[in-house]
Amino acid sequence: MKIGIFDSGIGGLSVLHQAMITMPEADYIFYADVDNVPYGEKTREEVRKLVDHAVGFLVDKGCQAIVLACNTATSAAISYLREKYKLPIIGIEPAVKPAVEHTSETGRRVMVVSTPVTAKGEKLKRVIDKYDDKHVVDVVALPKLVRFAQDDDFDSSDVTDYLKCEFAPYNLNDYSELVLGCTHFNYFKDSFAKLFPDDLEMVDGNTGVSNNLKNTVMKKGIFTEKDKGKKGSVEYYYSDRKMESEAEMKHIKKLHERLERMRQI
Ligand code: DGL
Repeated sequence: MKIGIFDSGIGGLSVLHQAMITMPEADYIFYADVDNVPYGEKTREEVRKLVDHAVGFLVDKGCQAIVLACNTATSAAISYLREKYKLPIIGIEPAVKPAVEHTSETGRRVMVVSTPVTAKGEKLKRVIDKYDDKHVVDVVALPKLVRFAQDDDFDSSDVTDYLKCEFAPYNLNDYSELVLGCTHFNYFKDSFAKLFPDDLEMVDGNTGVSNNLKNTVMKKGIFTEKDKGKKGSVEYYYSDRKMESEAEMKHIKKLHERLERMRQI
């Protein structure tokens, strides 16, 4: 059972991290398109082309299902990819529905943070129109966070200053929900927590996507009885290059460790 997990960069590791917990039996191929990150500041056309290349690469490697662990790629390319490729393609999008539902208990607002492509996309607009009948959702694009993450800068004063500046027009005490609408933003949960009220709930789509992946591969017969109890593996690719050196694997391990800490917040 070979599963491809794709992102423009290291954000998708947060989805892989959860998928390895939900379905440890799979052999994963993780593809981060680091040569072309950030996607969130490109045109939708450019994003579509890049994701098409990466998905083609993962199909050639024998993947039987693919997760777009990237809200931006899902927003710009999922319909196109599902038409072009025959295998299951699972996307991720900002988890607006559970966040809005929770505000009926808190009486406060929801902030969705994402890249500019996701923020301006029709997909997010449709989800908000569907669930936000009380108009409690605000969308804020934070493109620079993707760059900070790719530079391994997760909790410096530069990160906090950037967030403070972007959030300046909002009263953060108004929010009980923060929807992480970009997989890179999982690395910054501690920085977000410092700025919002203590009871803030941060909602990401990682568990939902991992459950969705497991249900899909079971339904399609990709996950069979003989896979049960198996110990899977992971191969990491940065664009089309396989990561193998000790230094690269050490870095990836450090990122997983940070994601495990962020998962507990
Ligand atoms: N991690 C991606 C997302 O979930 C996009 C980051 C980027 O390349 O701008 O949207």
